[in-house]
Order: sequence, then structure tokens, then C-alpha cells
Amino acid sequence: MITEMLLGTESVIILKTERTGLSLEKKLMVSLCEKNARSFVTEEAFVIMKQRAIAGQDLLWSGKGPGAEYLGWLDLPESFAESDLEKIETTAEEIRNTSDVFVVIGIGGSYLGSYAAISFLRHRFYNNVPRSLRQGPEIYFAGNHFSGRYLKELIEVIGERDVSVNVISKSGSTMETAVAFRFFRQYLEDRYGREEAVRRIFVTTDATQSPLKDIAEESGYCLLGIPSNVGGRFSVLTAVGLLPIAVSGGDIRTMLDGASAMRAHLLREKDCNDALIYAIYRNLFFEQGKTVELMACCDPCLHHLAEWWKQLFGESEGKNHLGLFPAAVDLTTDLHSLGQFIQDGSRIMFETVVRITEHRADEAVVVTESLDDFDGLNDLSGMTMDEMNAKAFYGSTMAHTDGGVPNLLLSVPNKNADSLGQLFYFYEYACGISGYVLGVNPFDQPGVEAYKRNMYALLGRKGYEEERRRLLERLQETDRLQ
Ligand code: PA5
Repeated sequence: MITEMLLGTESVIILKTERTGLSLEKKLMVSLCEKNARSFVTEEAFVIMKQRAIAGQDLLWSGKGPGAEYLGWLDLPESFAESDLEKIETTAEEIRNTSDVFVVIGIGGSYLGSYAAISFLRHRFYNNVPRSLRQGPEIYFAGNHFSGRYLKELIEVIGERDVSVNVISKSGSTMETAVAFRFFRQYLEDRYGREEAVRRIFVTTDATQSPLKDIAEESGYCLLGIPSNVGGRFSVLTAVGLLPIAVSGGDIRTMLDGASAMRAHLLREKDCNDALIYAIYRNLFFEQGKTVELMACCDPCLHHLAEWWKQLFGESEGKNHLGLFPAAVDLTTDLHSLGQFIQDGSRIMFETVVRITEHRADEAVVVTESLDDFDGLNDLSGMTMDEMNAKAFYGSTMAHTDGGVPNLLLSVPNKNADSLGQLFYFYEYACGISGYVLGVNPFDQPGVEAYKRNMYALLGRKGYEEERRRLLERLQETDRLQ
């Protein structure tokens, strides 16, 4: 439950949550600017799409849309039980005290959110700086592919140092994760013995039932539950994301508060909010044949957030031969690789730029004055790199808009846990609306099963005998053709 009041500006909110017991608090909000997109759509089309988006939003809150059994994320920031939060914090503390290295084993929604958050919140070179600068253990991700070499090299990185693992899988049966977990469980048992290995294995899985839950209970591993009504790619604000983030020293309470604030903001502004507007433009551009949304990140700390966002929107909307293809670029890095295409290639995309607006004085790097002006940069002396980045941002935005690429701008007030919580919730909410407008179930992923079925059949797993026969015939046919 949340009580909130408007302070007069769109970007400031006062809230009091029952969970945190916070009294009045001001918050700068993540916000969307549509100025450079408006001229690409007609007023009439916008109004019609807005009605569809409001209907989509109503479906979300009424729980009457497809996939409604997976809407648990909607209330998650508010409904999070204090005891569950405390368990995550004490578990994280235990891992921090006993481990030099922490390995997160998971794939898709079971790792992208925590990876994004740690990259956004923590030191840019988190694993490489002395522990005093990062507080938590080094953190590595595994189980997100089938590379044996990667696992072997990761063991070399761990060396003699103490390690704990967190295996994360909502279904508890994902093959990439399961194989990596089997590898690490063996490694831990060989190295520490069974009893100590048990203390170094942490399991995050569906709270009600999953094969991994059974394994954890039988083996005595520390178990953290994922609410059954929260799907993988919407699970960053559950133990899935929160445990690794807390291990890294990230402020998970503030992150949840940020998500709560965004939720309150969106609820209050149901008739016209930024998530609604984002969903409107996404669908308008899709209908115009702009089938790619390019998330353009103005700071390296946003790179992995874009990876999380790609899964969120790609897996939620890409069905029934519909949906925008989510792609991402880093600015200004990729202006030197893909900038030409964005400016002048096929007109298939629109761009959503994500930009952190706060420039911290303690992080500023200033162009210095040089006596001989050896590189001709003296005219820029005194300018910070953030200021230069801002000019590059304005320059590229205007150039791309002029080149026929509509531009939305998502402004993130700070590089902190509050802003990140807001961002996560904003995107999830917009994704739910946008998927409903598109006419798909945003909360399932039937297409992912196709590769799994083929893989299981080719691996010779039980129950896939007929598919295996058909696939082997196809493979032989391909071999004959080569
Ligand atoms: O969004 C989803 O549900 C999926 O993409 C999952 O996150 C991904 O497949 C991993 O599944 P699991 O957590 O069950 O191992």
C-alpha cells in the first residue's frame, strides 16, 4: 500500500510506503521526452493509439488480459515481505563474509537483471579493483551458454580463492543452467567436501515447485523463492536480482523504493503517463513499418541494462510474427560503427536514447590547457568529458531526427539505486501495456520451447524419440547436400 501526493511538478513525488515506513520523501523521476518523435506521427493516429494503450493499461490492472497469472511483478515493490528482504540481506552478508568470488549461474531473466544492476550501480571495473573499492566479492556469471572452455577458464580465475555459487532458475530445469550447476557442485564438493559445499551453494527458484527446489531441500542448500506469479524476465526485483545485487553492495531497499515510487507515479497518472506514451510511440512506429527499436545508451554503465531490456521486450512482444526487434547501441562508441547506418541506411528504426542527467563533479575529467597545444584541443580546455558527451548526444539526436529516425529520450536522474528501481519498473510496465496493444500475451514465451525441443531430441533425451528420428533425417539430408 502506498500513500502519495503530488507536489506540483511531474518529476517530483512525495510518498510514504507501508513497507519501508518512509515518511514524506521527494524523488526525481525517470521521464520520457517525445519532442523529437511527435512530428513523425499525426495527431489523429496518436489519439487513436492512446485509446488502445489506455485499454492495454486497464487490462494490466484488471488482470483480465492474457498471461494475467504472471502479473505478480506489478505489485512486487509494495508487496515484498520484510522477512524475505531480510533473508536476502543476511544471505548476501554471509556470502560477502565467506567468499572472494561469487558465481551466479543462470540464463535469460535469471541473470540479465542482476548483471545490468551491478554494471549500473557498482564500480565500472568492479572485479578488477581492490576489495576496499567494491566491498563485495568478485562476481562472475555462468550457465548462460554451453561453453565448457568458459567454465574451465573461470575455475582458473577463481584459483585458490574462496567461492560460493548462486544457481538461479525459475523453472529449475533450464539445461544451460543445470549443466553449469552440476559442474560447480562437483567442483565445490571436490574442493571443500560435501558439508562445506552445502554452505557455499545458494538456490533461487520457484517458491512453490521446481526440480531445483526439490534438490535444494534434499541437499540442505539455502533456498530463496521466486513468487510463482512473476515470470523470468520480470523477476529482477525478486531474489533473482536482489541477492546478487546485494552481494555486490548494491542498495536493494532503495532500489525497491525507486520501483515503488515509479509504480505510484504511473498509477496516479493513469490517464497520461510516460510508460503509456512510450507504448503509444512503439506501436505507432511499428505500424509505420519501423520494425526496429534502437536503445541508445549514453553511458557505458547502461550497456547491460540494454541487454536486460532486449530480453524484456524481445521475448514479451516477438510472437505471432509481430513485434519490434529490440537492438542497442552505446553512444558515442557505436556512432563510429553503426552511426552511418542509423543516419543513412534503411529507414527501419526509431531510437530511444537513455541518458543520465546528473553530472557529478567528483567524477569529472576536464580537458586541460596544454602549453604547445600539441593536439589543437586548447579551444576545449576547461570542458568536462560529460559536457562533451552532452554535446555529442544533442548533435547525434538532431542528426538522426533529420535523417528520418524518430527519437524518444528517457532521462534518468542519477546513477543510483533509486533511479534504477524506477527504470526497471518503468520498462516492465511499459512492456505490459505495449504487448497488450500489439495484441500478444506479453508474459509467455512459447517460441523459446522450439529450440529446446530440438536440442533435447538431438541429445537423445527420453520422450523425444520421434522428434529425434525426424531431426536426424533432416541432418543427414543436409549432409548429403553439402
Ligand atoms: O523470461 C523467461 O521466463 C525466460 O527467458 C527465462 O528467464 C529463461 O529462459 C531462464 O529460465 P529459468 O529461470 O526457468 O531457468
